[in-house]
Amino acid sequence: MLKPLDLFVPVAVCFCAFVLWRSRSSGARIPGPRGLPFIGNLFDWPSHYQAEHMAEWQKLYGPVTKLSVLGKTVLFLTSPRAISELFANRASTFSDRPHFIFSEELCGMKVLHPMTQYGEDFKQQRKLMKEVLAGDVIRRHEALLDDEGRRMLQGILKTPQECDRLLRRFSSSLSLRMVYGFEAMEIDDPHVLLAEEMMQLAEYAVIGGWLVDFFPSIQLLPHWFPGTGWRTRADYYARKITEMITTPYEEVRQLLHEGKENDSFCSINMHKSIEGTHTFTEGLIKATATAIYGGASDTTGSAAWSFMLAMLLHPEVQAKAQAEIDSVTDRSRLPRMTDRAAMPYLVSIVWETFRWSPPVPVTLPHRNRNDEEFDGYAIPKDTMLVASLWSITRDPEFHTNANDFNPDRYEVDGERIPYYVFGYGHRRCPGADMAFAQLFHQATFILSCFTLKAQLDANGKPIIPEAKFAGEMVRKPEPFPYDIQPRWDNVQALFQD
Ligand code: HEM
Repeated sequence: MLKPLDLFVPVAVCFCAFVLWRSRSSGARIPGPRGLPFIGNLFDWPSHYQAEHMAEWQKLYGPVTKLSVLGKTVLFLTSPRAISELFANRASTFSDRPHFIFSEELCGMKVLHPMTQYGEDFKQQRKLMKEVLAGDVIRRHEALLDDEGRRMLQGILKTPQECDRLLRRFSSSLSLRMVYGFEAMEIDDPHVLLAEEMMQLAEYAVIGGWLVDFFPSIQLLPHWFPGTGWRTRADYYARKITEMITTPYEEVRQLLHEGKENDSFCSINMHKSIEGTHTFTEGLIKATATAIYGGASDTTGSAAWSFMLAMLLHPEVQAKAQAEIDSVTDRSRLPRMTDRAAMPYLVSIVWETFRWSPPVPVTLPHRNRNDEEFDGYAIPKDTMLVASLWSITRDPEFHTNANDFNPDRYEVDGERIPYYVFGYGHRRCPGADMAFAQLFHQATFILSCFTLKAQLDANGKPIIPEAKFAGEMVRKPEPFPYDIQPRWDNVQALFQD
């Protein structure tokens, strides 16, 4: 059992380290809000709308802002130049993740790709992911995309006011089938619910600002010690994460034993392991599967919901897109991936959706493994850095009238395609091509068959919703009223068997 004196030593060491750090870093030149003694910028730390706060700091302090909380320094990058220089040009040093005791150690998330340090395991995981997510592989998923798209359209016809749920089901079900080969799922399927819970707790675990990450020695406190409710929370999260990693994988193994192989990521890799035709460990395959499923579930659903809002707010864009689709399909079939080249306006709409409302406005935290310098600022080894991709979407050097939803900005006005919404360098999102394919399918399928309109109020006046977004790690529009109507009678002939 721990005695009070046992605690005194680590706390005193932390305090001395902090004082030492303050004295060493007092000459640091990176600007930022002035903090208070000891707690530093604790009260400047934005718990909501981090991207918007970062934009304010950019105005005051320039492209790099420094905040220090309880002895830990975080750099917030807001200019495209700073972000691409550090995360892309110097990717070999800026691609690690900071160590988070709460999420990595106590919740057991360190095996998952987003937490893995840049090194051999990371490269192996990326190699595995390419098997399902690389641009040229995605064509293999066309049948799945088409099938899920048809289910989505049937759902919209039947329950038009449940679009948000149906769009999310499209992504969850698609990735479950891709990764584990399970039959198409309903939104309240236990696997889907588990994945949603995991995403929520990942958000809590990573950006929760847990005291143990500032004072590691408090992890030695026993469970009964007052104020250690976070330990119980960590235990609960750890159980859920293990469940998420293990349960669907074991179900695939059971199917394999019953001779029911499928062509999913897990089934194929399990088979290769049994045959000895690859060298990936089971732990690596399991964790990679979870990372793919977890990464895909929320992000793409959120992008699809932003697309719906953009169409409602811009009927002229919607009409132009529908005309383009009709010119290719002649209203006699649903669009296909190969139609992409013939639908440049739809391609622009997809990119503009990602830019207008970036689903991941701020990157996950990065860490540098060497001392570095940028614009005359010293960035000591092991500094934590986060980059605002949202700031780039609003940067006047990249985009004019950046708050407007304007798909013509790419093909017609020649603005650059916002590939950056998926991040930079070695840690760029491995699911970027898949995300594009999903939204392209959802957008073209919906606009082939339906028109989104503003809902009418009691006086028959259209209710034009305000574009408001919520969420931290993944952001999406707040619920808004809408009306969605089939484009012609018997439109279901296009999507029913
Ligand atoms: C619109 C959809 C999506 C957007 C905007 C998006 C964006 C991002 C961003 C910005 C990052 C962080 C990069 C960084 O830390 O520097 C990321 C990481 C990640 N994304 Fe995505 N993503 C999307 C969809 C997907 C999909 C469909 C998958 C999987 C199928 C996926 C899997 C992942 C994984 C595993 C990581 C962690 C990468 C790492 O730590 O190295 N994402 N994503």
